[in-house]
Amino acid sequence: METKWFTLRTVEDKESIAQAADILRRGGLLAIPTETVYGLGANGLDETAVLHIFEAKGRPQDNPLILHIPDASWLTRYCEDVPDAAYKLAERFWPGPLTMILKKKPCVPLRTTGGLETVGMRCPDHAVTRAIIEASGVPVAAPSANTSGRPSCTTAEHVREDMWGKIDGIVDGGPCQVGVESTIIDLTCEPPRLLRPGGLPLEALEDVAGPIAVDRAVTQQLKEGEQPKAPGMKYRHYAPHADLQLVEGETDRVVEVINNLVKEKLAEGKMVGVICTDETRVRYPQGEVRSVGLRAKEETIAHNLFAVLREFDDLNVDCIYSESFSKDHLGQAIMNRLTKAAGYHILNV
Ligand code: TXA
Ligand code: MG
Repeated sequence: METKWFTLRTVEDKESIAQAADILRRGGLLAIPTETVYGLGANGLDETAVLHIFEAKGRPQDNPLILHIPDASWLTRYCEDVPDAAYKLAERFWPGPLTMILKKKPCVPLRTTGGLETVGMRCPDHAVTRAIIEASGVPVAAPSANTSGRPSCTTAEHVREDMWGKIDGIVDGGPCQVGVESTIIDLTCEPPRLLRPGGLPLEALEDVAGPIAVDRAVTQQLKEGEQPKAPGMKYRHYAPHADLQLVEGETDRVVEVINNLVKEKLAEGKMVGVICTDETRVRYPQGEVRSVGLRAKEETIAHNLFAVLREFDDLNVDCIYSESFSKDHLGQAIMNRLTKAAGYHILNV
């Protein structure tokens, strides 16, 4: 398949927006930029188009897709019994990194929702993408644009690596600002429940919606056969090819332990990666050392995390050791992604 590339940085480029929207209207697959990660979009009401998303990603069919809309006025087209809290949250946080799970209307195919009677709704904070959705006139089902299991894509180049030749178009809207996926909150239960930590911190949500329960799958490894409420949380995710191990503890000790592990692996002839921060970068003399950002500015770490994991795939390292981070605010999402990427392999020192 020929993949068309659109460099699209402004809503003034009406011609490209119309062409991109046309791909969606005709049932094609289009990678779209958002503020969190790139999405692999298709008309969410068209079962065949949606099936093609699952095929291109190699994604299990029971893992539901979320629908992207240009504003909250589209909610009632696809959702039933929308609670007041949904409008309050949309008013405060949309467009932005928040996905709300609501009861679906019959027009939303079960193919899109992985067989569930609920649907995730999101309004992305990317003007070009909202303009494309608006012009297409359809809600856009879009999972993250990575091949299933790989780290998510935060640049159009990452999407090219995973999807070139498999989809109809890629919209290059620049690097994603936030860098981790949206926060998912289920509003079909009382109290509302956090299903996936993401770009919008839980504390900000609670300010508007009151107390929110946290799903077990957010903080703990599920037991064999246990079903999380967000089906996607049960799959190994965000994983680089190499074995990743997280090292947790007081910083000086973490640096020392990682340096010892690196030395050991190098002696075995292995290629070793280290994930650290700007603050500690100079303290690692050996291995492929990459800083994810400033520990003091967690948004820089969220922004760079997936790109660093993908870079280690390109380098073909055998193993990676990573510093760990505070779980406050955006740190909850950062540590959730890192822990999953590590397959819960954590060394406490
Ligand atoms: O930031 C994001 O949310 C990105 C961008 C592209 O918008 N999208 C994204 O989609 O991360 P995806 O498919 O990679 O992750 C969506 C997660 C999956 O874990 C899925 O199981 C869960 O949301 N999910 C979707 N619909 C659901 C529903 N009705 N009930 C419970 N969980 C749902
Ligand atoms: Mg994903």
